[in-house]
Amino acid sequence: MQAITAHNQISKIVSQAKAQGKTVGFVPTMGALHRGHASLIDYALKDCALIVVSIFVNPTQFNNVTDLEKYPRTIEKDLAFLSHYGSKVAVYNPSPEEIYGNNVSSKGYDFGHLETVMEGEHRPGHFDGVGTVLNILFRQVNPHKAYFGEKDFQQLTIVRKLVDIENLDLEIIGCPIHRQEDGLAMSSRNARLTEHQLEIAPFIYESLLYAKNNFDSLSARELKGYIESIYKEKDGLELEYFEIVNIKNLRTLSRKRKNQQYRAFLAVYAGEVRLIDNIALN
Ligand code: PAF
Repeated sequence: MQAITAHNQISKIVSQAKAQGKTVGFVPTMGALHRGHASLIDYALKDCALIVVSIFVNPTQFNNVTDLEKYPRTIEKDLAFLSHYGSKVAVYNPSPEEIYGNNVSSKGYDFGHLETVMEGEHRPGHFDGVGTVLNILFRQVNPHKAYFGEKDFQQLTIVRKLVDIENLDLEIIGCPIHRQEDGLAMSSRNARLTEHQLEIAPFIYESLLYAKNNFDSLSARELKGYIESIYKEKDGLELEYFEIVNIKNLRTLSRKRKNQQYRAFLAVYAGEVRLIDNIALN
């Protein structure tokens, strides 16, 4: 399988598919593909005859240079991984110039409160970078629908807002988190974990399950306090944040309200590797 590197070529392939009456789906990725990405593609294939998968490690969304440098890049493996989809998948692997021209920088978006909490608070500029690259990719690829995993639930919420801000004619579809058997959420960053870190990382999902199972009986404050305390005792994993928020607006709650949906979110360091995860609480 060969990747397309020129934006006018991917635009042409999509226009031709649309002219044949095909629904076109888009799965944007940064590569190092795993079963979580495959689940997004499989989900997209239920509705779409052609799926464009982009592979682009976007420099503007990394607020940490080491994280960008160490981000796994496995293009040959990724192409082999996608090859069994045959002609149903087209791979777009642009260079930074193809995306940014000679100005690799982010547009300043106003995503309001959504960008000030959790990932936004701990990774300044991250969502401007995500918004910028997706706005460019959406316009170059021009699909009917784009698919995002709920592991990056805050990103999914921001992408919906981006589509409004940029007035794009595009349906955004959120797909369930794909987990290993031991509960660890699939992530390209898992490739950087040592054997020992892989052994202890399922604690992240266990802590989220605790939050879910005790959401009815404990207040949000009590739960937050408890989760923070168990990470203090856990060697090898360092909790950056744990938050319970309303999924509509990502605001923390003073008290639970009927007919509202809540999710717990966290970011955890295993050594240098930063992992995020979340769970629906009700
Ligand atoms: O979720 C990701 O892998 C990235 O943030 C995305 C959506 C591909 C944008 O670079």
